[in-house]
Amino acid sequence: MTQDDDAPSPVRKQHEQMLKLVSKGFFNELTKYGVNHAEVLTVAGHLLDNVLQGTQQTGPDPELYNRLFTVKDVRDEWSATKQLSLQQVSLVPFDLRWTSNLMDWLKVPAARDSFYPQFPEKEAELRKYVTSAGRDYFCILHEGEPSGIIGAENIDAHSARLEMRKLVGNPSTRGKGIGKRATFLFLFHTFLIRKFYKVFLHSLDINIRNLNLNSRFGFALEGVFFEEALIQGRRQDVVRMSLTNPVWTGLFS
Ligand SMILES: CC(C)(COP(=O)(O)OP(=O)(O)OC[C@H]1O[C@@H](n2cnc3c(N)ncnc32)[C@H](O)[C@@H]1OP(=O)(O)O)[C@@H](O)C(=O)NCCC(=O)NCCS
Repeated sequence: MTQDDDAPSPVRKQHEQMLKLVSKGFFNELTKYGVNHAEVLTVAGHLLDNVLQGTQQTGPDPELYNRLFTVKDVRDEWSATKQLSLQQVSLVPFDLRWTSNLMDWLKVPAARDSFYPQFPEKEAELRKYVTSAGRDYFCILHEGEPSGIIGAENIDAHSARLEMRKLVGNPSTRGKGIGKRATFLFLFHTFLIRKFYKVFLHSLDINIRNLNLNSRFGFALEGVFFEEALIQGRRQDVVRMSLTNPVWTGLFS
């Protein structure tokens, strides 16, 4: 066995970095609720108790989503009807008739506050925002019904890179696989249709679901901006992750 055989895989390393960030988010939450440093040690002890009592199953090892789908599974009707689909999820260019859905989704503080920077609150500004030059938003359809939005910001055609933002609007539809299918379709569009080189994103460090989702597409951590965002009067760290075309193509072709 060589030294390389013993080295943790890139996915494992990535996951370990994620666990560190998640722990930091959890620590921040504890201190927010008035738990002092000595009590944090008590909480750590209780977490260990749960492991020892077997009340908490450990999750499966992180796996990339290329076990679930690859580019061959995408129904690419982009040139004919501007639609990409994967199972029950489709992406179509955002139409302003869906602005009221978007307004409703963003009224939920947990959704609105998960974006950095936030979407405009007023309808007229939001309409301008999602259709302005330098941005390109799609509506996520689930079984034909609008379920969310995913799009590109800070589109830099010269360097062929853009920023991704996404929202599965109705909280009751979250956790059903819509976000990961929409993300895959967005990456398909960016890397294979638009032929861009790099996608990056910003996530608040406590947004565990989003961190998990992104790392299973091959996104790597680029950095943490400490106390970057002010959300409901509290400063929060912002994580930046990125994925390049060769990495994604290598994983999902
Ligand atoms: C982040 C978001 C887009 C994910 O969409 P979704 O449809 O809920 O996600 P999926 O069902 O496809 O699940 C994706 C992964 O999230 C993770 N996840 C799902 N439910 C979770 C939960 N309750 N807690 C923690 N992680 C969870 C899992 O890793 C899951 O993958 P797996 O099923 O392979 O383990 C959605 O939750 C959302 O819109 N959140 C608010 C807005 C936001 O945070 N946007 C990102 C800013 S760029």
